[in-house]
Amino acid sequence: MAAYVASLSPGPRIPDAEQYSTAGLTAEQIARGGELFRTNCSACHNIEGRGGALPNGSYAPSLMNTSGKHIYEAMRTGPQQMPVFASGTMTDQDVKAIIGYLNATHAQPSDGGFALGGIGPVSEGLWGWIIGVGACVLAAIWLARKGTRSR
Ligand code: HEC
Repeated sequence: MAAYVASLSPGPRIPDAEQYSTAGLTAEQIARGGELFRTNCSACHNIEGRGGALPNGSYAPSLMNTSGKHIYEAMRTGPQQMPVFASGTMTDQDVKAIIGYLNATHAQPSDGGFALGGIGPVSEGLWGWIIGVGACVLAAIWLARKGTRSR
């Protein structure tokens, strides 16, 4: 059925495994994939590919569990508000680098402690505000209660 539907339109065909395989990517190529991702994708999908909100109630989905094949297809077809990244703009090598970057990022342990959803400064700021400032307020109350003047 998929083959029949594919035969109806001139869109790009289903990629071969070697078009999106990340085997043999060097650390430099993965770093370049990170640059490409930050330049072209992070505005919608967040810096780590965790997804994000877009205008008019739509959103760019998280890419945490997205397969290489799916990423390749999304870039070549541009679903919904996502722009098309044709092979003239992004070569297969660039797509592979991006997939390699996403895989590497998602395999990375969170050495800095809690990732807090990895969605950036909002959750980190909220955490800092509630826990950090909250602790200062509690300490101030505690000190004021123990102080001589309060007796
Ligand atoms: C203008 C915002 C925008 C940009 C830029 C963008 N995307 Fe998307 N992307 C979307 C939206 C919106 C969807 C959801 C489309 C849908 O639901 O049909 C999507 C869907 C996807 C999907 C399919 C995910 C799934 O689970 O179905 C992948 C993979 C993807 N994008 C990868 C990328 C990559 C890689 C780049 C950079 C080269 C990129 N996107 C750039 C908005 C964007």
